[in-house]
Amino acid sequence: MKIAVLPGDGIGPEIVAQAVKVLNALNLNIEMTEAPIGGAGYEAAGDPLPDATLKLAKDADAVLLGAVGDWKYDKLERHLRPERGLLRIRKELNLFANLRPALLYPELASASTLKPEVVSGLDIMIVRELTGDIYFGQPRGISTLENGEREGVNTMRYSESEIRRIGRVAFDIAMKRNKKVCSVDKANVLECTELWRQVMIELSQEYPEVELSHMYVDNAAMQLIRAPKQFDVMVTGNIFGDILSDEASMLTGSIGMLPSASLDANNKGMYEPSHGSAPDIAGKDVANPLATILSAAMMLRYTFNDEVNAQRIENAVKKALAQGFRTADIWTDGTNKVGCAAMGDAVVAAL
Ligand code: IPM
Ligand code: MG
Repeated sequence: MKIAVLPGDGIGPEIVAQAVKVLNALNLNIEMTEAPIGGAGYEAAGDPLPDATLKLAKDADAVLLGAVGDWKYDKLERHLRPERGLLRIRKELNLFANLRPALLYPELASASTLKPEVVSGLDIMIVRELTGDIYFGQPRGISTLENGEREGVNTMRYSESEIRRIGRVAFDIAMKRNKKVCSVDKANVLECTELWRQVMIELSQEYPEVELSHMYVDNAAMQLIRAPKQFDVMVTGNIFGDILSDEASMLTGSIGMLPSASLDANNKGMYEPSHGSAPDIAGKDVANPLATILSAAMMLRYTFNDEVNAQRIENAVKKALAQGFRTADIWTDGTNKVGCAAMGDAVVAAL
């Protein structure tokens, strides 16, 4: 198994180091090679996605990514900013299917800002389209109008085939779960998502066992807080999925708990925590590495078809939590506050 390891910026290197530690502890036949991306790529090669990094990622079976971004790069030209590196690697590797599971570990029910009875037992799979939508649509840019004032433009676009292939991922996953898909759109206002809804309805004919429902994105944002357990699989476009997955992560106690997989049509994937680079706490050994460790578990499951070792990692995380280990973001009275590296050690010990 060849894995490209891209730690990135901010807390990226420290959380990735913990996931690497966990993978190594499994004694699998893994070859891991590191390369810079994001701000680190810009520092190393003047490009947030250096050619050598892209080549390494293309040649690998899977990519393990930390996070990108730091305020100090905010003044760079847009194409040199860390986020561009992330968006480009998603596009270059054709990673159109982003899976973001929001699962509440029972031990963390009291770490959520919502009442325990609202979130306990929560298990949602958010399927976010990742290579289309307003993130990539043309035309885009900032230009000056004839009257001298500036105008910003982005374009929300989805082709039928893009909608169908992400819909298929969602329906296939639902077949292995509770057979419910909620498609999130804004079909009452946006034609692009009116087409989204039509295609989802057409596709659902092929999945008679799956119950398809539709929800406008504003209502979905509200329902996630009101009664999140009504959801099984949620499928949505790039921008709505970006927003709803951050929201869903807080149901699980902390955004530091939410892993993700970004897959192409052949299950090659890039695995990263759903959270960002948190430059404010970088290098302080306080970040929560569990989302990254759980992303490594997803890598074993989806790219390497190794369900046994995926579950070993997930069970080790559960055990470390049951033993009371907590990073600052999920700490509650009476539990044992540990740093990033110690949390990684606790998971390795639990393995
Ligand atoms: C995410 C992030 C990225 C996104 C940023 C860093 C470009 O928020 O992975 O959710 O918007 O997709
Ligand atoms: Mg996001």
